[in-house]
Amino acid sequence: MSVIPRPCNGKVTAPGILSRKQAFLAGSQETKKITCLTAYDYPTARLLDEAGVDILLVGDSLGMVVLGYESTLPVTLDEILHHVRAVRRGTRRALLVADMPYGSFHISIDESVRNAVRLVKEGGAEAVKVEGGERRIELIARLVEAEIPVMGHVGLTPQSLNALGGFQVQGKSADAARQVERDALAVEAAGAFSVVLESMPRELAARITEKLRIPTIGIGAGPDCDGQVLVFHDLVGLTIGHTPKFVRNYADLSADISRAVSEYCDDVRDGRFPSDAESYHSPAEIREQPPARERS
Ligand code: KIV
Repeated sequence: MSVIPRPCNGKVTAPGILSRKQAFLAGSQETKKITCLTAYDYPTARLLDEAGVDILLVGDSLGMVVLGYESTLPVTLDEILHHVRAVRRGTRRALLVADMPYGSFHISIDESVRNAVRLVKEGGAEAVKVEGGERRIELIARLVEAEIPVMGHVGLTPQSLNALGGFQVQGKSADAARQVERDALAVEAAGAFSVVLESMPRELAARITEKLRIPTIGIGAGPDCDGQVLVFHDLVGLTIGHTPKFVRNYADLSADISRAVSEYCDDVRDGRFPSDAESYHSPAEIREQPPARERS
């Protein structure tokens, strides 16, 4: 399988994403906010890429959204890799970022680098995302040294579910806010090209965005970040169960799918599907011949 992206005009790259913040800091009025969405399969990747989304993230949210796990913790590197390959085949312009799942970067730095290299080499990822702030300085620096662009992820880090005791908005007290800020600064100092800020007060995200020279990509972090990311299934109303307050539904695909499938079942049961126009026909000369038994 080729993992080399087929180049196209306006290909989004990690340095390109970084330079957008730098252009903004230099006073450019033209800088647009960065758009990022999750994608886990080929058709979605194609649709999002063709719609002009800047960054496609194969997030470990795939565990909850498409694999039916209760958290992101069970997701394996091989599962991420399988989905990265599918998304790779559907992506031409967007930057393809692969999430490093829980356990793939917690044992040793060498093993973590080996795992990230697999995502690039076997999956065709162009960058990896790593959850955690100050604790990841050494890892991020080593990945960058191995030529792998890194997107950091601070604030609410869903892989810390057991350590945090649940999914709560982070950085609400003064101490907690200082820690989130230190985490974001650490990720930048280690060499990340961007950082996800998840579930925090918008004022904190705005302050961090102002302090950093790398772009911040917010999710549940208010409008002042340099870009936004959402889980695609949340955006189109395909998520089963609770969606957080920060999600905006741009479509209600669950309702559309339910309606389409019920109509299909009714049509099949009542003989309305398939119609004659939806059927293949024998050539006229065969149709006109009597069945073989009658001919003999
Ligand atoms: O796994 C994921 O989809 C994520 C994004 C929501 C940032 O980490």
